[in-house]
Amino acid sequence: MQTGVTLWFTGLSGSGKTTLSRCVEQQLKRMGVATETLDGDILRDQIFRGLGFSKEDRSLNIRTAAYLAQLLTRHGVIVLASFISPYRDMREQCRQRIGPFLEVYVKCSWEECARRDTKGLYRKALSGEIKHFTGLTDPYEEPLHPELIVDTENTSEEQCTEQIIAYLTKHGYIGRADSHA
Ligand SMILES: Nc1ncnc2c1ncn2[C@@H]1O[C@H](COP(=O)(O)OP(=O)(O)OP(=O)(O)O)[C@@H](O)[C@H]1O
Ligand SMILES: [Mg+2]
Repeated sequence: MQTGVTLWFTGLSGSGKTTLSRCVEQQLKRMGVATETLDGDILRDQIFRGLGFSKEDRSLNIRTAAYLAQLLTRHGVIVLASFISPYRDMREQCRQRIGPFLEVYVKCSWEECARRDTKGLYRKALSGEIKHFTGLTDPYEEPLHPELIVDTENTSEEQCTEQIIAYLTKHGYIGRADSHA
């Protein structure tokens, strides 16, 4: 059985967590690797409809994700978890709970995320329609020692994906891309 691990993508809204987790998932599937994605938006839609963004509500969402990630990881799956997860203590709890855990800091400036504004949330937050908005009215605590940093402001989606795949290969979580052909 392959070694399971959770890649925990953290970063501002619009930084590229979901985009990159889908790109990595595609690559892993092509290589025949068992993988699963967990996404903040999906959990909020499928399980916790109406959940807010207070620290307590975020904590419930993250703890549930960590529990699911732990189950999958221990069965050899490479889990791609995309959650803003702005608080260091919560991410640290995920690391402790899950075991094989790689923190991937999806780095992008607040200004660039606001320019992208893929969901129209920055516009709403700036006009005061959303409270608890990360980077504006709520903090984002940058990772201090992430296993991987991908800079989505200055690096293409393809290159960021390649960096993640290269890390997994180098550390033996997956075989070399050509060996799966
Ligand atoms: N190098 C890159 N990596 C990832 N996304 C990028 C990159 N460059 C530009 N983008 C764009 O940035 C946007 C990222 O949106 P995405 O939904 O993935 O963010 P997110 O971090 O999942 O946000 P949220 O926390 O709100 O779910 C996409 O429109 C994507 O095309
Ligand atoms: Mg997302």
